[in-house]
Amino acid sequence: MLDELGDGLKRDIISVLDMKDDFEQILSNAAKMKKDHKKGQKEPLKGKVLGMVFEKPSLRTRISFEVGMGQLGGRAIYISPDEVSIGKRESVSDVAQVLSRYVNGIMYRAFSNQVMRELAQNASVPVINGLDDIEHPCQCAADMLTIMEKKGKLAGLQLTYVGDGNNVCNSLLLGAALVGMNMRAATPKDFKPSADILAKAQEIAKTKGCKLELMSNPFQAAEGADVIYTDTWVSMGQEKEKAERERLFLPYQVNVKMAERAKKDFLFLHCLPAHRGLEVAAEVIDGPNSVVFDEAENRLHAQKAILVAVMA
Ligand code: CP
Ligand code: NVA
Repeated sequence: MLDELGDGLKRDIISVLDMKDDFEQILSNAAKMKKDHKKGQKEPLKGKVLGMVFEKPSLRTRISFEVGMGQLGGRAIYISPDEVSIGKRESVSDVAQVLSRYVNGIMYRAFSNQVMRELAQNASVPVINGLDDIEHPCQCAADMLTIMEKKGKLAGLQLTYVGDGNNVCNSLLLGAALVGMNMRAATPKDFKPSADILAKAQEIAKTKGCKLELMSNPFQAAEGADVIYTDTWVSMGQEKEKAERERLFLPYQVNVKMAERAKKDFLFLHCLPAHRGLEVAAEVIDGPNSVVFDEAENRLHAQKAILVAVMA
């Protein structure tokens, strides 16, 4: 239900699919904002406030949204996990309606995509997904911006994701499809990405002429790759499964031997935080093909474009 004060015309970014009509426009706006920032920026969000609700820790998401809002002329308020306790201290719907009376947009890092959607349905201001159990759309936008900068194109490239078929992998499948990039995801059989998301991504891929494939052999997946991407084996909230996951995922470590299967000028991406010696060998993440810190920086630029798209 939308708040009576709202006009009902707000735009949420819960999934990469919520950018399906203007994903490349958002990426090109982000690139422009990055370039223009040095010249002194206009302030399209002057006086606007972003409420940032976190149920999990964060370095990049928190700081990049806060700095981004400042650079756009607005400001951000950090709301810690203990403060609101969504659904415990107060119902999701009440939190959404109260926050909507104070702020112009909400960035939410959640455990559950279902709660994310419930918050968005009950808020009269735009809600941006800052990671949940199903997707990490802002990360995906930053990743595509990074690849675009380094390779000069997106369509037709081969992106190989190795490891856990998690939120980051799901968003990358959608993002790759939207830009016409081929993607292979190599995961253990019980850790495949979401079947529902894959089906939606495949539908888009068909119209873009690119190929999305799931497989279990990471070496086969890495063959001829332009980009190799991995993420932690233990996502936030899965800490109890740490020992078991580290054992299961060991053959999926991105190391020099695996990277040798990729093109010589492949890019290595990781959303961070990274665990050297686990999902990635230090030689790869700290090696010449790694662009992880440009990727982290691009969270700022990509999100500024997203913020302007939904809040200006
Ligand atoms: N990549 C990412 O979302 O980092 P944080 O968890 O530090 O925000
Ligand atoms: N898959 C990881 C990403 C962290 C940015 C997690 O959900 O914890």
